[in-house]
Amino acid sequence: MAPAESPVTPPDFARWKQQGRKISVLTAYDYTTALLLDQAEVDCLLVGDTLGMVVQGHTTTLRVTLDQMIYHVEMVARAAKRALVVADMPFLSYQSSPEQAILSAGRFLKETECRAVKLEGGRRSAATIRALVEADIPIVGHVGLTPQSIRRLGGFKVQRNADEILADAHAVEDAGAFALVLECVPSDVAARVTAELSIPTIGIGAGAGCDGQVLVTPDLLGLFEGFRPRFVRRYAELGDEIRKAAAQYVADVGSGAFPNAQESFQ
Ligand code: KIV
Repeated sequence: MAPAESPVTPPDFARWKQQGRKISVLTAYDYTTALLLDQAEVDCLLVGDTLGMVVQGHTTTLRVTLDQMIYHVEMVARAAKRALVVADMPFLSYQSSPEQAILSAGRFLKETECRAVKLEGGRRSAATIRALVEADIPIVGHVGLTPQSIRRLGGFKVQRNADEILADAHAVEDAGAFALVLECVPSDVAARVTAELSIPTIGIGAGAGCDGQVLVTPDLLGLFEGFRPRFVRRYAELGDEIRKAAAQYVADVGSGAFPNAQESFQ
């Protein structure tokens, strides 16, 4: 484990894959949560465009803008002392051309302290990934279920075409990405991608054979109750805790039990 004063870098990811050391990734969207996750020594904080769903309350990630992402990435990157902070490129901030992608990704690196960028797509994004890497922007790829393709896919569905997934994964590696998110693919396909690639795979709904795992933090904490995918493990039930605490506060204000003398100025 790297000491707290030594921030995680993309070369650490490559080394950890060679060593067989698993990589932990969680999403983060705000300063306070990022501070806690960083103190828990999570290796990487992904400011995902899932914020469109778990922070903004939309049903997809499509409405998130580049300016909104930069607002959240700035807070998370300021909190993280050790974790590698990765900014997610939102829908239509990179699909037009490699030039558009460089300008969008460049804003993350110039306006925040994040140190890498993630974008969706395999073969269709390879030229863009190559251009970003040539501009010295470290890239995490994302294949399998790509939520920005939701309108074409017709829903959040497990992607089962092994040939397509393997071709996309190799295209991302060949283009120069330093890691690859594999979302909602069968475990055996994810394990095969992991064995064939020299860059680490980070799975979500992709089984235990990946080099690392990522979860959406409000899912892991039991805060987001909109829906619960099969791959989510809840490590806490903070939704229940918050409802309980707020209800107690309401009762205490109503009865006059809050504030007491110690909570007041004399
Ligand atoms: O946007 C996001 O949070 C993601 C993860 C689910 C991998 O892409």
